Amino acid sequence: MATKKKAKAKSGAAVKKSVGKVMKLKAKKRTAKVGGGHPPATSKPFGQAGRALDGVRILDFTHVQSGPTCTQLLAYMGADVIKVERPGTGDITRGQLRDVKGVDSLYFTMLNGSKRSITIDSKHPKGKEILDRLVKECDVLVENFAPGALDRMGFTFDHIHKLNPRMILASVKGFGAGPYEDCKVYENVAQCAGGSASTTGFRDGPPLVTSAQIGDSGTGLHLALGIVAALYQRARTGRGQKVLCTMQDGVLNLARVKLRDQQRLRHGPLAEYSQHGEGIAFGKATPRAGNDSGGGQPGWILKCKGWESDPDAYVYFITQAPVWGAICDLIGKPEWKTDPDYATPPARLPRLRHVFDTIEQWTKTMTKFEVMDICNKQDIPVGPILSMKEIAEEQSLRATGTVVEVDHPTRGPYLTVGNPIKLSDSIADVRRSPLLGEHTDEVLREVLGYSDKEIGEIKASGAISAAEKKAEAA
Ligand code: COA
Repeated sequence: MATKKKAKAKSGAAVKKSVGKVMKLKAKKRTAKVGGGHPPATSKPFGQAGRALDGVRILDFTHVQSGPTCTQLLAYMGADVIKVERPGTGDITRGQLRDVKGVDSLYFTMLNGSKRSITIDSKHPKGKEILDRLVKECDVLVENFAPGALDRMGFTFDHIHKLNPRMILASVKGFGAGPYEDCKVYENVAQCAGGSASTTGFRDGPPLVTSAQIGDSGTGLHLALGIVAALYQRARTGRGQKVLCTMQDGVLNLARVKLRDQQRLRHGPLAEYSQHGEGIAFGKATPRAGNDSGGGQPGWILKCKGWESDPDAYVYFITQAPVWGAICDLIGKPEWKTDPDYATPPARLPRLRHVFDTIEQWTKTMTKFEVMDICNKQDIPVGPILSMKEIAEEQSLRATGTVVEVDHPTRGPYLTVGNPIKLSDSIADVRRSPLLGEHTDEVLREVLGYSDKEIGEIKASGAISAAEKKAEAA
């Protein structure tokens, strides 16, 4: 009996065990279906566990700023970016705004880090043949030529797709389909056409462009997102697609709050704009708002100690409603906490100029950093106006890899902006920019499998070597 019981118990345990096994297997399958299971967290330090875009190869046909911003980011994230440049001159920015004679400009070096450079004359028959082979070996072709230029070279989407149906063709253009689609476009044209300039500056002054390159770098960022999304879709479909970002669209996307305000105008004045408090009527379009803050929490740029001689001795100060009491105490106006003219945000709106003038009397007694320290303790949102000199010297930006010093063979060390997107499992691969054609032989040999003899023939054909002749002559 006992043995029978034992045997029963044993077989029961065995059944339980095997049922458990089956359930575990099913659970494993389920999790595999939804997300590939739960691999353990990496033991590597932050940002050291690999390269997010490892295995992605980019044929980089970009120049100037918008396209190079995109491909540099992808290179920082681990993609192999092969920049194709015109023999002899390369990307025009190599020679623009030069600070050191005969050396690639910072304009170029700061937009083309972590890439390889190959020189190819894309209009030379042999050059076209090499490019065809590169199309077959790459995942993404990125370009920001003038409208129609890529087609004129013979690289239509049909041609590219015949060679490589997985290829993603990513383009920046100035405008989308419409009256301006054939126009060449630079940064400030996009800022103006995208609605940024008309809404930037002071009401009584002309439209202003902003120094942040929202047309070029901003559109490059949009394009990078489009490429990553297309790569993700390709993993399911096996097919490449076209990705288009226009600079007008990119700027408008960043200026969308001003289109919001345009629609609000139909229902009355924009109460948070200081012109409202000053009794100035609104026109038909979103006006320029000076330094008013956009989100309904009024803010302004205020002078700090030293403003008479230091153009950047200012702080941005936001009178956020929940900390109004703390602000009143700090600036020596505790009575404003209960005064019906100042106690509530709607009551303050018509008096914003006076409110900020009063706060400024207080901020002018301290440096911008002292204001920041005092306000931070009280959760009052303020921001020092940092000069580029201060940013270049800021050690915390170096520590996070946002500002990186790299060494260049002809220029020496220079600062560049590293990857502003921090990934916990992926290395930010920030390296110097390549010299013109530095990797031509390497790419021909390693990526395309040309022999030394063939490379010699290619050089003799003039498809890549004009650069070498000119470089030697220089
Ligand atoms: N070999 C041979 N020819 C090459 C080449 C190469 N490796 N690389 C470029 N070219 C040729 C192009 O085929 C084109 O020739 P085509 O006009 O005979 O067709 C020519 O160089 C000029 O290219 P393009 O793009 O028109 O340059 P551009 O200097 O005249 O214009 C821009 C510059 C930026 C205005 C223009 O490219 C543009 O509008 N781009 C889209 C918007 C954009 O990105 N603007 C922001 C730039 S930061």
